[in-house]
Amino acid sequence: MDLFRGFVLVCGLVVSVTAVEKRYTDRNLMQCMTDMGLTDLVQLLTETNMNSALSNTGSSYTVMAPTNAAFSKVDVNLMGTLAHEPILKKQILQYHVIPGFNVLPQLLQQHKADTLEGQPMRFTGFGGNVLINNSTRPVPGNSSDVICRNGVVHVIDSVLTPPVFGTHNIAANLVLRDDLFQDMFLALLLNNLTHILEDTEFTLFAPTNLAFGRYSALNGIRPNMPNAQMIYHEVFKYHMVPGRRTSYNLHDGDKLFTLHNSQINITVDATGMMVDHAKVVEKDIAASNGVIHAIDHIIFPTDLLQNLING
Ligand SMILES: *[C@@H]1O[C@H](CO)[C@@H](O)[C@H](O)[C@H]1NC(C)=O
Ligand SMILES: *[C@@H]1O[C@H](CO)[C@@H](O)[C@H](O)[C@H]1NC(C)=O
Ligand SMILES: *[C@@H]1O[C@H](CO)[C@@H](O)[C@H](O)[C@H]1NC(C)=O
Ligand SMILES: *[C@@H]1O[C@H](CO)[C@@H](O)[C@H](O)[C@H]1NC(C)=O
Ligand SMILES: *[C@@H]1O[C@H](CO)[C@@H](O)[C@H](O)[C@H]1NC(C)=O
Repeated sequence: MDLFRGFVLVCGLVVSVTAVEKRYTDRNLMQCMTDMGLTDLVQLLTETNMNSALSNTGSSYTVMAPTNAAFSKVDVNLMGTLAHEPILKKQILQYHVIPGFNVLPQLLQQHKADTLEGQPMRFTGFGGNVLINNSTRPVPGNSSDVICRNGVVHVIDSVLTPPVFGTHNIAANLVLRDDLFQDMFLALLLNNLTHILEDTEFTLFAPTNLAFGRYSALNGIRPNMPNAQMIYHEVFKYHMVPGRRTSYNLHDGDKLFTLHNSQINITVDATGMMVDHAKVVEKDIAASNGVIHAIDHIIFPTDLLQNLING
C-alpha cells in the first residue's frame, strides 16, 4: 500500500516538473555547477573538501546553489571571518546540501529537510516561487530542478545561514557570556582545555556559575588530593562532545560520547532537556566551531565517581 502510494507520488512529481527541469545526467554535481557558472560556490566546496563527495556518483545530494551575485551580497565581515575559519565555512556550505535526490515539488510537499550541517531548511510555495525560510527563492529562470548524474542543483539568490549560527569560537563565547560562564571558563583555563575549544568542533555542556556555586570543592575532590588535577581534567572533558549538536539534533535517549571517552545520556520531555542529571537551562548558544548548552549542575562520569567511592 505504502509502496503503491509512493509510486503514484513519484509519478505526480515527475509530471509536474517536466516542464521546468533540466537534465545533465552525464555530469556529476560538481561538473554541473561548473558548467552553470557557479564559480564561487565551486571554489568554496573545493576549499572545504566537499567536492569529492559531490562528484562521487555513488551517493546523491541536493544542492541549494547560491549564484556568484549571491556571494557578493554577503556581509564583508562574515566573508572575512570565513576566510580564516574553516569550520565555519564548512558549516555554511553544509547547510546548503541536503542528502538524497530531492526535486522542488517534493521539498515543498515535505516542507522541511535536514541538511548535511544537521539543522533543517524550510520550504514554502509562494506565487509560483519557492521560498526557503521565507527569504530566499530560486532565481527566476533558474528556478527549475537541474538534474545531474548524482543529484539535483537548485540555483538560489542568497547565501543561507543555519538557524543556530555564531561567529565567535566557543572559548570566546564563554568570555562574552561571563554572566553565565565565568567559572566554567576559569576551570577550562586551569585545565588547559580552552585552546581546543578555539579551533576544534565541539558541543560543550557548560555548567553555569550557579552550578559551580553548588560545589564548594567539586563534590569532595580537594585540589590537594594527589590525583585532583587529573580528576578535574577528566570531569571537564566529560562536558565536551566532539562535533556540533544543536538542540534540533538532540533527542530523547541519545547517548553522546564525550572527550572523557564515556557517554552522557540525553533525556528530552515536556519539561525540557536533561544531560545525565543536569537540566539544560539555555540551549543553542552558537559558536563558530560548535555550540554551547548551559546546564544547572556539574556532571560526573560514573567511572570517576566509582574510583572516588573506592578511594
Ligand atoms: C512565512 O511567511 C508566511 C506568510 O507571509 C507567514 O505566515 C510565516 O509566519 C512566515 N514564516 C517565517 C518563519 O517567517
Ligand atoms: C542561470 O544562472 C546562470 C548562473 O548564474 C546564468 O549564467 C544563466 O544565465 C541563468 N539562466 C537564466 C535563464 O537566468
Ligand atoms: C529562518 O527563520 C527562523 C524564524 O524566523 C529564524 O530563526 C532563522 O534564523 C531563519 N533561518 C534562515 C536561514 O534565515
Ligand atoms: C596543553 O594541551 C596541549 C594539547 O592539547 C599540549 O600540547 C600542551 O602541552 C598542554 N600544556 C600543558 C601545560 O599541559
Ligand atoms: C546512561 O545510560 C546507561 C544505560 O543506557 C546507564 O548505564 C548509565 O548509568 C547512564 N548514565 C548516567 C550518568 O545516568
